[in-house]
Amino acid sequence: MSTTTETLPATGRFFRAPAPVPHAQPLGFVSFVRTATSNPIEIWGTRAFKEPYIVGSWLGVPNIVVNDPAGVRHLLVENARNYVMQPLRQRILRPLLRDGLLTAEGQLWRRTRKAIAPIFTPRHISGLTETMQARSEIFAEGLAAREGRELDLSHEMAMLTFDILQATLFSNDIASDPDSFAQSTREFLGSMGKIDPLDLLGAPAFLPRLRRLKGKKSMTYFRGLIAETIEKRRGRIARDPESAPNDLLTLLIKADGLSSAEIEDNLITFMGAGHETTARSLAWTLYLLSQAPQERALVEAEIDAVLPTLGHPSEWADKLPHTRAAFEEAMRLYPPAPSLNRTALSPDKVGPIDIPAGATVLVMPWLIHRHEMLWDRPDHFIPNRFLPENRDAIDRYQYLPFGVGPRVCIGASFALNEAVIALALMLKHLRFDYEQAAAPEVVQRITVQPAGGLPMRVVRRR
Ligand code: HEM
Repeated sequence: MSTTTETLPATGRFFRAPAPVPHAQPLGFVSFVRTATSNPIEIWGTRAFKEPYIVGSWLGVPNIVVNDPAGVRHLLVENARNYVMQPLRQRILRPLLRDGLLTAEGQLWRRTRKAIAPIFTPRHISGLTETMQARSEIFAEGLAAREGRELDLSHEMAMLTFDILQATLFSNDIASDPDSFAQSTREFLGSMGKIDPLDLLGAPAFLPRLRRLKGKKSMTYFRGLIAETIEKRRGRIARDPESAPNDLLTLLIKADGLSSAEIEDNLITFMGAGHETTARSLAWTLYLLSQAPQERALVEAEIDAVLPTLGHPSEWADKLPHTRAAFEEAMRLYPPAPSLNRTALSPDKVGPIDIPAGATVLVMPWLIHRHEMLWDRPDHFIPNRFLPENRDAIDRYQYLPFGVGPRVCIGASFALNEAVIALALMLKHLRFDYEQAAAPEVVQRITVQPAGGLPMRVVRRR
């Protein structure tokens, strides 16, 4: 396993980012099930942050934690065809997202990825950044109007990214009023959040899951709204193609080879995969900056000096390196998608470890991003690591907020542009202070998030 190659300043006081304390001893069966269903990132022991591979088993199925970047490359790139999405993840997500790209497999996945890839090209993303800028400006003004108040930044960032996603997906051209649409989306996505103990114990799909039954009504209603929205747009494109906005919905409708049901599944997938993830990272970035005054000063100075000189918002992510580095470091410490797990179709070997067919392999950004052999001061917030001059020291397979290989996040560039634009416009005039005595408690639902929200005071800085 490669060891740390970063060369960071030896001195400097860096903020230690809160996280559950790893166990010294493995958990027993009962506490394992309890922890895995209440907060899965708490199951890990100290070994998981020190060793390249850990071999175990669950209900008779072997599982292998792969922390070695060379092993990650083998699994997710070189021999990716030998692996499918883990059944537990599919049991949770597939009833909601159906044949969307995130949950599709095999031939369906290949066809869908091919149809959708042209939608997320730099040219299209560049076109969407103007909307990201306009929505972020309005949002930042709204925050400024609440200056002096303590707000739940976790909730606020979800509102912002939902608004941006809705504007870039549908240009607000939806089949209901925006408030009830937002409400039904929240209810629908809320049912994605938690692992059901039945799933963890491998119970067959026909057994009813209480958590999921509750979401059934909201799912039917939400899917109905999405289907109507697609029909409305189809009608508009047919009547007057020039008048249809050039947003993700129009691009999906025009994509080659997607049925109406597949367009619906993929719209829902984008909403599921592309809203809370970015929101969590934005909230963590603001929290981490509030605890690291030196880093915050660098970001503010950059925004003050560089932002007024910048042109088109598609250039900001490259021209605001400190702002981007703070966001990337926040995604290292709190990867929104903390596990990329797979099941082996046939036997394989990764590093020194034999992988039997049917074994679960666990590639965990949560572990790899804080691994002692890979990072200098792994638990500390040091955005410098991600400045362009230091970037080469980070192995491609040790930093995986967006995954890697054929199933790498299709929205990565969308999210990065959105985040830098939103941060720059919020931090231009505002500062966010965390005034609670206790650090936030970190929990994994589907994303890694602060338990019970993230109260922060909004202060005008100039
Ligand atoms: C900070 C924000 C985001 C993070 C951290 C993130 C993370 C990820 C990760 C780790 C994967 C790979 C999962 C795996 O290999 O098991 C993924 C896949 C995916 N993401 Fe994202 N994502 C983000 C934003 C977005 C956005 C904005 C969209 C769409 C608008 C999106 C859509 C998708 C889709 C459709 C897939 C499935 C790709 C495939 O399987 O071919 N994501 N994302």
